[in-house]
Amino acid sequence: MSDIALLLRQCGSPLYVYDLDQIRAAYRDFATCFAYRPLDIHYAVVCNHNHHILQALAACGAGMHANTPGDAHAALRAGIAPEQIMYTGSNLNAADLDYLLQQGIALNLDSLDQLRDLLAHPRCPAEVGLRLCIDDRPGNRIGVSRPELQQALQLLRGTGTRLSGLHMYAGTNNLNADHFLQAFERLLAAAEALPDLRYLNLGGGFGVPYQPGQRDLPLQQLGQEISARMQHLSEQRRRPMGLILEPGRRLVAAAGTLYMQVISVKERPERRFVGVDSSVANIVVPSVYHPYHAIEALTPRGPLLDLPTDICGASTHSRDFLGRDLRLPALQPGDLLALKDAGAYGYAMSSHFLNRPRPAEVVKDGASWLLSRRRENLDDLLALQIAEPLAL
Ligand SMILES: Cc1ncc(COP(=O)(O)O)c(C=O)c1O
Repeated sequence: MSDIALLLRQCGSPLYVYDLDQIRAAYRDFATCFAYRPLDIHYAVVCNHNHHILQALAACGAGMHANTPGDAHAALRAGIAPEQIMYTGSNLNAADLDYLLQQGIALNLDSLDQLRDLLAHPRCPAEVGLRLCIDDRPGNRIGVSRPELQQALQLLRGTGTRLSGLHMYAGTNNLNADHFLQAFERLLAAAEALPDLRYLNLGGGFGVPYQPGQRDLPLQQLGQEISARMQHLSEQRRRPMGLILEPGRRLVAAAGTLYMQVISVKERPERRFVGVDSSVANIVVPSVYHPYHAIEALTPRGPLLDLPTDICGASTHSRDFLGRDLRLPALQPGDLLALKDAGAYGYAMSSHFLNRPRPAEVVKDGASWLLSRRRENLDDLLALQIAEPLAL
C-alpha cells in the first residue's frame, strides 16, 4: 500500500498534506530573487496558518504578515516573536486594535479613521505605516488615496507618532511583473512626502502558474527592478531604507495536496462523472472562485481516457465540482486522487458549508510525517451551538 493510502487510512479522507522541504525551497528561491538589503520577508499567514508551516518559515528567517488579529494570534501561538510580525489590514474594531497593540505588533493601517483610532489609543506606538491605494479606480476600497495621505501627515503632526512606512498590495496571484512595478512607482512617488520614511512594503500577490504551460512570474527580473529602485531611494535619502515583502501563495501553494477517494463513477457516452469524498467546502475551486487546480489519479489504471471527466463533490450542491472537463485514466471506487497546488487558500478557505467535517492536515518533514491538525467529526460541526438566555 502506498504512503498516501496508509495516511488516508490513519487520518481519514479527504486529507491535506504539506511538504515542508518544498516550502523551505520555495522560500529560498523567492529570497534569492531580491538582492537588496535591508530586506524582510514576511510570510502572509492568511493563505495557510498551519503552525508547522509558520515555524518552518520562521526558522528559514521569515517574519509574518498578519491580515487580521487571528493571523497575528496564529503566529504568536506558533512561537514567533511580536517584533517579527507586521499587521496590514482593514477595519479593526476597538477590541482588534487593543489586541494588536497589547501584543506590540507593528501596524500598517488603511484609513484615516483607523489612524485616528490609533492616535487616541493609550498604547499608540511611536511609528505607524499606511497602506496606499495602488491605483485611482473609483471602486478601489483598499488603502488611502494620495489626498488622504496628506491628511494623515497633518493628523500625525505634533503627536509623537511618525509615519515611517508605506505599504501596497498588488492583488493576489499576479504573473505580470509590470503590474507590481507600476504600483511600486506610485508608492515611491507618494513616499517623497514622508520625511520619516523607514520602509516600503511591496506586499504579496506573487503568482503561481497553476495551469500546465502557463508563463511564470519573472521573479528574478522583478527582484532586480525592485532592488535597483530601493538602492536609488536609499542613496537619495542617505540612509538605508527597508524593503518588506509579504509573499503567501508563492511559498506554499505548490507544496500542498488535497488527497481524496473516488466513491462512485457514472460513465455516460459523452461524459464521466466521478464522485469523490471531498467537496468545494474543503477547497474553493474554479466552480466557486479560485484558480484551476490539476487533479491526478494515484492508482495506475492505464492511459488517460478521451472521455471528459468531471470530479463531483460529496453533495448535490449545483456548484460542487472540484474539476471539470479533465482527462483522467479509468477510475474505480476506492481509487485515490490528488488535487495539486492546494497549499495556499485551501484549508484556510475551507468551511462547514454542506455540513461536513473538515479534513485533517499532515505535514511531511524530510522522511517523517506528522499529523498537524486532526480531522473534525460530526460533533465538531455542532460544537458551538448553545442555548444561553440573554438579559438585555
Ligand atoms: C496585505 C497582504 N499582503 C500579502 C498577502 C498575501 O497575498 P498572496 O498570497 O497573494 O501573496 C495578502 C493576501 O490577502 C494581503 O492582503
